Amino acid sequence: MTDKVIELRGVQQRFHARGTADGYLTAVQDASFTLAADPPQVVSLVGQSGSGKSTIARNVLGLQKPTAGTVTYGGKDIFNLSRAEYDEYRKNVQPVFQDPYSIFNPFYRVDRVLWKAVKKFSLASTREAGEALIEESLEAVSLDPGRVLGRYPHQLSGGQRQRIMLARIHMLRPAFVIADEPVSMLDAQIRKMFLDILLDFQREHRMTTLFITHDLSTVYYLGGQVMVITKGDIVERGPVSSVMHEPSHPYTRLLLDSIPQPDPANRWTTRIKVDESPDTDTTAAEAPEPRPLL
Ligand SMILES: Nc1ncnc2c1ncn2[C@@H]1O[C@H](COP(=O)(O)OP(=O)(O)OP(=O)(O)O)[C@@H](O)[C@H]1O
Ligand SMILES: [Mg+2]
Repeated sequence: MTDKVIELRGVQQRFHARGTADGYLTAVQDASFTLAADPPQVVSLVGQSGSGKSTIARNVLGLQKPTAGTVTYGGKDIFNLSRAEYDEYRKNVQPVFQDPYSIFNPFYRVDRVLWKAVKKFSLASTREAGEALIEESLEAVSLDPGRVLGRYPHQLSGGQRQRIMLARIHMLRPAFVIADEPVSMLDAQIRKMFLDILLDFQREHRMTTLFITHDLSTVYYLGGQVMVITKGDIVERGPVSSVMHEPSHPYTRLLLDSIPQPDPANRWTTRIKVDESPDTDTTAAEAPEPRPLL
């Protein structure tokens, strides 16, 4: 398979759901788009919560077979590949998720995620070559190997954990990165660093990214192409600059209008009133206890 093109044609995803008229919920309806590796590009998929973005990501990653329609790679249905073809697909199409913490096993040092990639995809023939590759990849994402190797996941910040996933991608050099809300939990500075690394990967390692987000400002920063999804329906698509400057669909205009605009001439002067009566029940607003991982 040399023709590195992922193509969705008429993808529909329905789920059983209680409380709907026919007992089904249509998460994705009739989605069609193409992701090409050459030339490498960034394609953003933007829409609000529940619009079907992660479902599309799962369809593309081969984790969820659509109810109707096809996902093909090099012209072949990805749900119908031979073992060898599927392995090649999974090497060439790599995910980055919002919360990498769930990918790390809390009982193993973070090195293990990187070593597993080295071994699974036979990236190095000796231990020394594997170590050199891991160090080079960590440095490529601005992580100091001496400071992150040997640590447990909880000893790293969210931004560091997320960059370890980028280091893994740097090692694997996939043709496609499927990034589902990868920066939603990062602060502005680390978010920019993450997006710059993705843009570097596009330029230097010729990777195409499907970037999934609910945040138009990150779409704007990345540039490239954008698809706007609402209620499982891709309602608008095109170059980021034209879609954002001349949106043609009312939903895109709504998304644009919901970006807060700082206005120094119109500062917020009202004080927020806090009800400090002793009867106020604040426990409900507190963060829930962390769920045990095992
Ligand atoms: N496995 C499933 N079974 C039933 N319903 C599902 C399943 N996966 C997703 N859904 C439903 O499909 C719809 C789309 O979900 P999806 O996770 O794709 O949205 P999203 O755009 O990624 O949202 P968010 O921005 O919150 O991540 C939602 O209504 C969701 O509840
Ligand atoms: Mg999602």
